[in-house]
Amino acid sequence: MSRLELKTPEQLRLMRRAGLVVAAAHKAMAAAVRPGVTTADLDDIAREVLARHGATSNFLHYSPGPGIPPYPAVVCTSVNEVIVHGIPSSQTIAAGDLVSLDFGAAVDGFHGDAAITVLAGPVAEPVAKLSAVTEEALWAGLSAVRLSGTVGDISHAIEQSVRRAGRYGLVREFTGHGIGSAMHMAPDVPNFGRPRRGPKVVEGLCLAIEPMVTLGSRRAVTLDDDWTTVTADGSWAAHWEHTVTVTKNGLWILTAEDGGEAELNRRGLPFGPLAD
Ligand code: MF3
Ligand code: CO
Repeated sequence: MSRLELKTPEQLRLMRRAGLVVAAAHKAMAAAVRPGVTTADLDDIAREVLARHGATSNFLHYSPGPGIPPYPAVVCTSVNEVIVHGIPSSQTIAAGDLVSLDFGAAVDGFHGDAAITVLAGPVAEPVAKLSAVTEEALWAGLSAVRLSGTVGDISHAIEQSVRRAGRYGLVREFTGHGIGSAMHMAPDVPNFGRPRRGPKVVEGLCLAIEPMVTLGSRRAVTLDDDWTTVTADGSWAAHWEHTVTVTKNGLWILTAEDGGEAELNRRGLPFGPLAD
């Protein structure tokens, strides 16, 4: 089994700085989502946030392997039936659209990665519910992160959360992942699985947890650009992601502006940031 990178307190503080850049970019992009805005406009906004913070993009020119062209933007803008990896373009957002914004940043060699789903004005009720179910699945996964727990506990919590919500497609082709001195590291964090299986969660481990949920089939198809991944049946999809770590004191949601404090309190879970 591949070794897991365990961060020192100093490195966790850099992970937090990267996470705060991600939170700032999401806030700026979300505020700009409205009918008429293009997905390329959202990419421009994210680039400005990176520049303002002296951070670098971990998405731009990223290639997951030989033969896959380098990713051409700093954010993935996945509209409606696009599940993940939509490439910013001159496409305009329309009222009622669902837009997922997956964004990452690196600060002094440490990485943050998170995704939010934004609704452009009033959307159809099932679409709003889809995003809420996916966000809840993310928080179910985050809530299952505990010292001496396992990655399988997280996977299982996500799967159960989506199952309990009703008839949804839970995408299996993509997983969450370890994160730290690179964006994608061991271990994989699947969005389904069995409790008590998989690697143990220990201090210094950082994970990106990222459920993708659809209103129909869970099958995903990647288009000829080698990036844009859509649902096989054209149903709409949502994506929510955070980067998280766990200290002796509790959870620290590195890509949440407040570190996750408000939501963790609501759930009665310990909030465990490191002091600056
Ligand atoms: N952020 C994505 C993930 O969650 C990766 C995006 S691929 C990229 O793993 F090329 F856009 F970077
Ligand atoms: Co990710």
